[in-house]
Formats: sequence, C-alpha cells, structure tokens
Amino acid sequence: MTPLSPKPDRSSLAGPRIPNKKITKAVVPAAGLGTRFLPATKAQPKEMLPIYDKPAIQYVIEEAVAAGIKDILVVTGRGKQAIENHFDRSVELEETLQAAGKKGELASIQEISNMVNLHYVRQKEAKGLGHAVLCAKSFIGNDPFAVFLGDDIIDHKKPAICQLMAIWEKYHSPVLAVEEVPLPRTKAYGIIKPKSISGRLYQVLDLVEKPKPEQAPSRLGIVGRYILTPQIFSLLEKTKPGSGGEIQLTDALRRLNAMQPIYAWQFEGVRHDIGNKLEFVKATLAYALKDKTAEAALKEFMRQLVAQ
Ligand code: UTP
Repeated sequence: MTPLSPKPDRSSLAGPRIPNKKITKAVVPAAGLGTRFLPATKAQPKEMLPIYDKPAIQYVIEEAVAAGIKDILVVTGRGKQAIENHFDRSVELEETLQAAGKKGELASIQEISNMVNLHYVRQKEAKGLGHAVLCAKSFIGNDPFAVFLGDDIIDHKKPAICQLMAIWEKYHSPVLAVEEVPLPRTKAYGIIKPKSISGRLYQVLDLVEKPKPEQAPSRLGIVGRYILTPQIFSLLEKTKPGSGGEIQLTDALRRLNAMQPIYAWQFEGVRHDIGNKLEFVKATLAYALKDKTAEAALKEFMRQLVAQ
C-alpha cells in the first residue's frame, strides 16, 4: 500500500477529541427491500442469495472476522429471518451429518454458527441506510465502529475493511471506502469532493448523495465499507429524509465532516454489488471460478454459451 503522509493539522476544527480505540464492533445493515432484484427478493433477503456456495452476507461476516471484529450487529427487517437462521446452530442437521459421517460438511456448518458474536436488531421500516445505522446506537455506545453493507462483497487478499482500519489507526478519523464509478452512474452513489493526500488516500471536502453527472464533484462513489465514530448518531437523529425520501447516511456524514476530518480510501479489490442482477451473476461466476473442481467445466460451458 502507498505510505501515508503526515496527519493534517486539524487544530482549527471544532469537535470532540476522538479516542484512538481499536475497532471491535461492526454494523451490517441488511434491512433494505431489494427492489432492484425482484422477484427474487420478494420472500428471501438479497443478502442470502448464494454467491456460488455461500450466501452473500457470509462473505461480509467473514471479512469482519478476518479483521478482528468481535461483535457484529445485523440490522434486519421483516422477511429477513433466514439471515438469523443461517448463523444459528442447526442441531438436527448436525446430528444427521454426524450420523452419515459427513465430517467436512459438519465442520463447515458448525464453523458458521461459531464464527463471531452476532446480534440482531430490527429496523421496523426501511427508512434508508442512515436510519438503519441509527438502529445500532445503543449497541455501539461510545466506540468507533465499522459498517459493512450486507449486499456488497469486496474481494481482495487484504480485506477492504483492514485497508480502512490502517487509515483509522493513523488518523483516528472516519474513513469511507470509495471507488471510481462511471460518470452516468454518479446518480446511484454518495459522491465525495476529494482532496488528494497521497496515492489512494483522500480527505473528504464535501459529500453529495446521488448527484446528476453534471453536478457530481468527482467520480469517487462511496461503497459498502465505512469506519465511523459514535458522533454520527446524534447527527443521524437530526437528519431529515433526503434523496428518495430516505434518511441518508451521506447527509449525516456531511455534518460530521464539519466536526471531524473524514478520509476516503480508494480500496484495492473487486467489488460486487449483489443487489444488482448483473453484478450478482458476475460475482457468482467469479467465485465459482475460484473452485478448482469447477473451473475447467465452467469455462468450457461459458465458451459453448458465447459461441451460440
Ligand atoms: P441499498 O439501497 O442497496 O438496498 O442499500 P435496498 O434499498 O435494499 O436496494 P434496492 O435499491 O431497493 O434494490 C444498501 C444496504 O443498506 C441496507 C440494505 O439492506 C443494503 O444492504 N438498507 C437499506 C437497510 O438496512 N435499510 C434501509 O432502509 C435501506
């Protein structure tokens, strides 16, 4: 990774001192309605759609575990019980696999339920990402925390959240994962106005939720990983519904930026927004091709398919 430049002078910025605490808590908002993926998501959470052999949200939880997160709060909603069931023990299934001598399968399902301390809260209405994060207020208390969107998978040998944590450890300030999005797509993202610091690191000068391409301050869109400070909660409480009638996290971040410098890290890795049908198919193929037992047959199948 590119070495970081010295911490900027923020003596002129008002706001509380941010303690340099290690990030051990995470929030995974997974209560969205998944309207881009209907009818598949009518009765099943998009976060549970399988990416090859695992539900999408398991990749996200595994990333958190790999980064040393100890406690994760999943924000769920109506119709999302499959998420809790997936990470719970399944005693009947365990007994059946045990009796059948299927040790590998048994170990893999036991591993899922022992992975990490998972907690759940329900967002009673899907009022937006900002509102979903606000549901974590009492769980987080006064600690800095990570946010992982349950429908965003990022594939890289150094987990994206670890890349963000490295910035947190240096600056003790909120950090957002960003990626360059095609100009016509700015209207689907929170977009930052960046000040380049070094390499992949930016300071955020401003943020705009879903700007039209001609109004976008850059092409750097905020994607599914954040390190936030608990000051975000009182700001979210004051945030009125914005773009799309939803309580937008970007709007609260804008206010937080007036209190604490916010950084953006253009992460290394491939991101799959599995809430989007095409990206879901690409993610499934990319992960299937990692399985050496399937790779050759799948490539042959794809060759035949495109030759038609
Ligand atoms: P998205 O905007 O991708 O989710 O939110 P969505 O609203 O389900 O998607 P579409 O546009 O209708 O298809 C990003 C993340 O925030 C969560 C979603 O579950 C997703 O993981 N989210 C969104 C909530 O938890 N609550 C909300 O009210 C909105």
